[in-house]
Amino acid sequence: MAIHIVNHPLVQHKLTIMRKKETSTCEFRELLKEIGMLMGYEVTRDFPLKEIDIETPVCKTTAKMIAGRKVVVVPILRAGLGMVDGLLTLIPSARVGHIGMYRDETTHEPVFYYYKMPAGRERLVILTDPMLATGGSACDAIRRLKADGYKNIRMMCLVAAPEGVKRLQTEHPDVDIYTASLDQCLNENAYIVPGLGDCGDRIFGTK
Ligand code: PRP
Ligand code: URA
Repeated sequence: MAIHIVNHPLVQHKLTIMRKKETSTCEFRELLKEIGMLMGYEVTRDFPLKEIDIETPVCKTTAKMIAGRKVVVVPILRAGLGMVDGLLTLIPSARVGHIGMYRDETTHEPVFYYYKMPAGRERLVILTDPMLATGGSACDAIRRLKADGYKNIRMMCLVAAPEGVKRLQTEHPDVDIYTASLDQCLNENAYIVPGLGDCGDRIFGTK
């Protein structure tokens, strides 16, 4: 069980612009995509390599290739979609699954509405959702993935609250968390403080 805080200056700079309330939908969406790609470097950092024989224009040599680590990127709808394109830029061969859930506005409990995964339960799942607040959505999504046969799962978010991290680490200690920030707390509406507001609404311009 580990939490990886991706504190690369580019990620931190872009996240700060995303947090500002005056940042436009268009810019917000583009920044999330870029951060998705930059965080992809960290999520894939320990992928195993193998040596292969190649020939450059100069000579024969051995060089490194990724040793068959197959990936499925799984966004939690809607906001998780914002990190998918960045990851696919890095890992073009990845498959994409989808898990649909939204938080009930009163209870803050996740409400499930969609599940679709490609074939291949041996694949590494990179579950994306920019906001890890209470952790309810992520924990439910991971429970479904495990029940469906997935064993290797990594959680990629953007902003995490301590409450969500604690819950995820308790319920799914085998799942590593990658985040650009560990924020202060949740407010009375279970929004992350300071956070960046409602991420889905900011990506899709629905408010
Ligand atoms: C947001 C966010 C997470 C969830 C996090 O989704 O994208 O899925 O809330 O909160 P939790 O950790 O307390 O479960 P939201 O319900 O706003 O749905 P949307 O992405 O469709 O807007
Ligand atoms: N979902 C969001 O989009 N933002 C939060 O701060 C918490 C949950």
